[in-house]
Amino acid sequence: MALYSEKVMDHFRNPRNVGVIEDASGVGEVGNAVCGDIMKIYLKIDNDIITDVKFETFGCGSAIASSSMATELIKGRPVSEAMALTNKAVAQALDGLPPHKLHCSVLAEEGIKAALKDYFDKNNIPYDKSQFPDCDSCGHCH
Ligand code: FES
Repeated sequence: MALYSEKVMDHFRNPRNVGVIEDASGVGEVGNAVCGDIMKIYLKIDNDIITDVKFETFGCGSAIASSSMATELIKGRPVSEAMALTNKAVAQALDGLPPHKLHCSVLAEEGIKAALKDYFDKNNIPYDKSQFPDCDSCGHCH
């Protein structure tokens, strides 16, 4: 069996939603301290709906494929659905990632969460801090 699924290869070769949103509602930047890869996610949110999403990823192929798929999964969806997106769902949508590459999909989940947190903070929207358990210890995005 090939190491990477067709979908991983497709999203790696033709990543969707690459770029920057200048007037983003929320921006999240996360990194993986071990591999050094960095991902930045930009969200445009209107009336609680993610109307646009873009990403920049300086990282491995799996991180690029994961960011691309994650942006596709949340585009046009309500904020609550984006909050609930897990790295498992991203990996499943890609028809799986090799076990040693699963952490790359975690970067996508964390990037989206960091962008949502930025959106909540900027707009004084109350949220349950326990939904961002890693933020205090990590500190990447603030
Ligand atoms: Fe770093 Fe994939 S090896 S995110």
